[in-house]
Amino acid sequence: MSIAMESITPKEMGLIEDRSEAIGVSKLILMENAGASLAREIRQRFPNIEGRRIVFVAGSGNNGGDAMVCARHLASGGPKVMVFLLKSSESLKTSESSINWKILEKMPKSVDLYQNTFDEFVPKLVTAIEEGDIIVDGILGTGVKGELREPIPSIIEKINSSNGYKVAVDAPTGLDQATGHVSNVCINADLTVTFHKVKAGLIGNLRETGEIVVASIGIPPEATKD
Ligand SMILES: NC(=O)c1ccc[n+]([C@@H]2O[C@H](COP(=O)([O-])OP(=O)(O)OC[C@H]3O[C@@H](n4cnc5c(N)ncnc54)[C@H](OP(=O)(O)O)[C@@H]3O)[C@@H](O)[C@H]2O)c1
Repeated sequence: MSIAMESITPKEMGLIEDRSEAIGVSKLILMENAGASLAREIRQRFPNIEGRRIVFVAGSGNNGGDAMVCARHLASGGPKVMVFLLKSSESLKTSESSINWKILEKMPKSVDLYQNTFDEFVPKLVTAIEEGDIIVDGILGTGVKGELREPIPSIIEKINSSNGYKVAVDAPTGLDQATGHVSNVCINADLTVTFHKVKAGLIGNLRETGEIVVASIGIPPEATKD
């Protein structure tokens, strides 16, 4: 990533998303573009995806929704795609994430879908993380508030100690996108795919972000001005 790259705060990004929606490029379209760009970056690095175990760890916000879209885009070509939602699907926060969850529910042949509604959820997730070739962190994005709540810190530790290639959606969970503050637990990604512009807090935190790719998600330039 070029050091001269222009950064943006999560607050500015939220305003841009709202203006984009007002112009007619909805948050659902932005989510589709974000998930598709993630999938493209992964396929570039793993051209032969057949037989790979890809584990998506999704939170209840739009960061998780981006991961769900990515899972759908990677579902063809013979990988084993597993999506673990850390909450119940009823607690998904946004219509965009709910829509994408419901699509995955209709893909039982190509996607294994789990939600945190049964006792063995966390052990099953831990096994998947240990055996995963690629692990996608869609746990939390710009909507994180305060200290991370369990089970997220424990899951982050499992992801960090696994041998899989780790991809962060927008930012590694545990890294404050505004300030760059690193929580006591934070995903150490190999690759961070961040959307539209690099978030200020990502810069200079290479240990957590790994390689940073800035992906265009189709925001009209008109949405970037007041
Ligand atoms: N569609 C779009 O316009 C668009 C465009 C580009 C990118 N995105 C993606 O959307 C993301 C932002 O989505 P979002 O605003 O829905 O936020 P989010 O970061 O995906 O999730 C926010 C949710 O996480 C949980 N949470 C917050 N703080 C927590 C903590 N300390 N510990 C545990 N859980 C916590 C809360 O849910 P609970 O109350 O359920 O715990 C909260 O509602 C971006 O980072 C990006 O990935 C969206």
